[in-house]
Amino acid sequence: MRRVVFNQKGGVGKSTITSNLAAIAAFQGQRTLVVDLDPQGNSTRYLLGEAADEPQPGAAEFLETTLKFSVRAPKTSDFIVATPWENLHLMGSSPLLDELHGKLESRYKIYKLRDALVELGEDYDQIWIDTPPALNFYTRSALIAAETCLIPFDCDDFSRRALYSLLESVTEIQSDHNKGLTVEGIVVNQFQPRAVLPQRTVQELIDEGLPVLQPYLSSSVKMKESHELSRPMIHLDPRHKLTQQFVELYESLA
Ligand SMILES: Nc1ncnc2c1ncn2[C@@H]1O[C@H](COP(=O)(O)OP(=O)(O)O)[C@@H](O)[C@H]1O
Ligand SMILES: [Mg+2]
Repeated sequence: MRRVVFNQKGGVGKSTITSNLAAIAAFQGQRTLVVDLDPQGNSTRYLLGEAADEPQPGAAEFLETTLKFSVRAPKTSDFIVATPWENLHLMGSSPLLDELHGKLESRYKIYKLRDALVELGEDYDQIWIDTPPALNFYTRSALIAAETCLIPFDCDDFSRRALYSLLESVTEIQSDHNKGLTVEGIVVNQFQPRAVLPQRTVQELIDEGLPVLQPYLSSSVKMKESHELSRPMIHLDPRHKLTQQFVELYESLA
């Protein structure tokens, strides 16, 4: 299964949700790969810790090979590293992603990620793609490469309105490039059950018929610690309420 976590807005929890759900999948024995397409590399740092500072081949280096002719094509697996967590591998981000963006776009490399990830389907049960906060070449590549899409939502009214243009973008990719792409659902993140406004905002989404997933993810200071220590919640504190919500959400997915 290939999944993309997508929202043009930054700070809604894309990297957090990608990394934590992938860590749970791996913890439950699924051979899992995270692909980090955001030049900011938050998932890469979260999953690798200080090792993220050392240069290593990743998504950018893989895509760069598609721009060059070579007699012996390198294997996609050459651009994947192990993380400290069993069953969890990473095709990491690097600043080279920024540098390559224009070139990849102008040379129509939009299907290269899909081709590579389809091929890797034999090695991995689950592939999770983290995307930058933009609808750019990398996000489109990811939406083309994926079978399903999760959309993190931060309960903000402004974000609610942005959801429609976001869903339109997904529909456009579906009809132009990827008929099989489905929207698996909206992941409500940093939900405050006692505040009136977020409840109303989420209820409006449900009333409008949008696929809002359960459970909603709480906001917790533990998440900051989890990022700082580069330990996904399932490894940092498996009994924590937020970890349990992540596990339940993971298990609700197909
Ligand atoms: N459920 C949560 N509880 C507390 N903090 C969270 C939660 N989800 C995300 N965050 C924090 O919000 C910030 C943005 O999250 P991130 O996953 O990097 O968003 P994005 O990838 O969409 O930009 C990070 O500092 C992260 O630690
Ligand atoms: Mg991110």
